[in-house]
Amino acid sequence: MKMQIAPGIVMLGMMDGGLDLFESQYPLEHGVSYNSYVILDERVAVLDTVDVRRMDEWLGELEQTLGGRDVDYLVISHMEPDHSGALEAFAARYPNAALVGNAKTFGLLDQFSQGRAALARQTVKDGETLSLGAHTLKFLLAPMVHWPEVMVSFEESEGVLFSADAFGRFGSLNAQEPWEPEARRYYANIVGKYGAQVKALLAKTATLPIRAICPLHGPMLTGNDTERAVELYQVWSSFAPQERGVLVAYASFHGHTAQAALRLADELEARGEKVARIDLMRTHKSYAVAEALRFDRMALAATTYDGGYNPAMEAFLAALKSKGCQGRTVALMENGSWGPLAAKKMREALEGMKNMRVLEQQVTLRSAMSAQNEEEIAQLAQALTEA
Ligand code: FEO
Repeated sequence: MKMQIAPGIVMLGMMDGGLDLFESQYPLEHGVSYNSYVILDERVAVLDTVDVRRMDEWLGELEQTLGGRDVDYLVISHMEPDHSGALEAFAARYPNAALVGNAKTFGLLDQFSQGRAALARQTVKDGETLSLGAHTLKFLLAPMVHWPEVMVSFEESEGVLFSADAFGRFGSLNAQEPWEPEARRYYANIVGKYGAQVKALLAKTATLPIRAICPLHGPMLTGNDTERAVELYQVWSSFAPQERGVLVAYASFHGHTAQAALRLADELEARGEKVARIDLMRTHKSYAVAEALRFDRMALAATTYDGGYNPAMEAFLAALKSKGCQGRTVALMENGSWGPLAAKKMREALEGMKNMRVLEQQVTLRSAMSAQNEEEIAQLAQALTEA
């Protein structure tokens, strides 16, 4: 998709609708886009390339956008291959362009390109500007959001923040589709671990007169959407819950543990709670990680397995730890036909995370939900509601 987003600024959003897994690990329901931007002024700047999967299409769109002009600068915000995949092909076509990056950029460039993108280099520092004529780019380093070389660029005349992966979203480029759910899943799983670094970037951009945010994935944000996105990033980067509610995540082999977890979810809803039910055996853990970031509480239900606990729950808790999840209240439910261990193991995993409050009260099923379990589940729902 080619779109003029401001005078002299063009977005080249390359949609990859056929990609099944982002980073070969996160399922995509509606693909993902790789966004590149072109500023046409006295001097021409291209901001980032695209994944090699959309390289040919992008090179064609770029050539058409340039209308016969050459490129003076290729600004590299991020060296991850979903944005640098076409860098070598770009270098072959536009040998007069200078690569603009920071001190960290070019080390990674050399590792990836092995000498195959040997263009002139211009190293910029935090806060440095590059005048293109009427347009001026100001570079702000954003280390570890979520790679060390990441930097964002603010175009001063139009108030456009080119935000690298920050404010990106899985899914289409259509700005009419709800931004938040897939932006949250993207944030929680891709950038979420680096909350402190995201906060540092937000502090740097806080005083900028931002009129539009242009990320490397998903639609451009304008108007109120810009403010809302910044607000959400403030909340998410502090690991604070976005709203009151409970993630009920369960990992069940034959359905009994699921039945108990869903009963708890119903009991919570009956008490006025907002609930997200996630079957970890059938739903990728990235969705559960996003809901854990959204809500203030979790209820986890798992079967005992091989002297430990259900591998799907184990993988989810490992992901939560890896992404820095913290400060949540958690209720536990387990099932074990002989020697139940799952709650103990889940408790241990949660103790390895920061500021997790795990309720002492828990529910143990012995194979199937008993009448006593039903009562305990109602009591656990009440305890979670009061927590
Ligand atoms: Fe979209 Fe970190 O690459």
